Amino acid sequence: MTYEQLIGRHKSEIDTPALLLDMDVAEANIRRMAEFFRGRECKLRPHAKTHKLPRIARRQLEAGAVGITCAKLGEARVFQEAGIGSILIANEIVGVTKIRALVRLMCEGDVTVCVESLENAADLSAAAAEGGVVAPILVEVNVGLNRCGVPPGKPALELVRGISRLPNLRFCGLMGYEGGLFLKNLEEKARRCREANRLLVDTRRLIEGDGFEVQIASAGGSNTFALTGTYPGITDVQVGSYVSMDDHNREYGLDYGQAVTVVATVISRPEPGRAVTDAGMKSLSTDAGLPVCVEPGLTVSALNEEHGHLRVHGREIRAGDKIEIIPRHGCTTIPLFDRYFILRRDHVESVAEIRARGASQ
Ligand SMILES: Cc1ncc(COP(=O)(O)O)c(C=O)c1O
Repeated sequence: MTYEQLIGRHKSEIDTPALLLDMDVAEANIRRMAEFFRGRECKLRPHAKTHKLPRIARRQLEAGAVGITCAKLGEARVFQEAGIGSILIANEIVGVTKIRALVRLMCEGDVTVCVESLENAADLSAAAAEGGVVAPILVEVNVGLNRCGVPPGKPALELVRGISRLPNLRFCGLMGYEGGLFLKNLEEKARRCREANRLLVDTRRLIEGDGFEVQIASAGGSNTFALTGTYPGITDVQVGSYVSMDDHNREYGLDYGQAVTVVATVISRPEPGRAVTDAGMKSLSTDAGLPVCVEPGLTVSALNEEHGHLRVHGREIRAGDKIEIIPRHGCTTIPLFDRYFILRRDHVESVAEIRARGASQ
């Protein structure tokens, strides 16, 4: 059956393994998050690296987001070509080839990038001058994640002072992602989140005290939005996973609807209590642990490349049966697929190519 012929059909007719997106659930998640932020000082700048789909980004913007976030230049290009206006690349773009490509995107629209060193800022300023643009930038501050970013406080201020002397850059503010803080002890999580937010906002105040305007102080993710999004002085939150959801975020307390699942077929029933599906780790990521089955009585016990091992408890299941599986980590499972089968009430509404899939350059 062609994808066109699948439109309107029940999801059980989709060949497997396949990525399903329940659009009613995704839209409800978008509305719910937007509602949380309505009337607050802090806004949403959803991270599109999770869903990778311009259609969802548009819904997030319609619901009030101030822009979207991307991890990579390639992702930003896909979203810009799809007409998404305001894009933050929450990452450093280094090296002449990439910087020139970034400047080309900046010539086309509103694209902001992070920097953490004066050398990178100088390269960007030079390329922006060549391209005839002024590049909007955020200084990335390391607020405890120990990934990228300049240390908070004085080193960040020194970098802003240096940037202010470069001709083709516009300093717009700070980015300080605190990491997921996947902690079960909620007091500990809140304490560490506030500490990270404090480092960012104190740095903001220090820079403002030196006479620079800080329009943006961007931070946070799906698992910290309620903490970071209410911390005074944070301007926007880069929530990604909440739209599609996954088992990892659910385990750590995020009770949003599960919009994305992987449908698999049982291909073998070698012995009672054991079944094998056609969805292995090339269809379901394992970086955060094993995925879980939607239906009770089935547990994913291991994944090979193209085989999924299930334990079957107290229920019947046969070769040919289809089962739905909740990804353990949506951000790394979604880009394993070329397309989403978009569902409404269990029927295929459309088939959407995941164009930002593989856009890791
Ligand atoms: C820079 C940045 N912002 C925000 C996020 C939040 O993403 P999520 O909401 O999926 O946890 C991430 C996740 O890796 C990130 O790297």
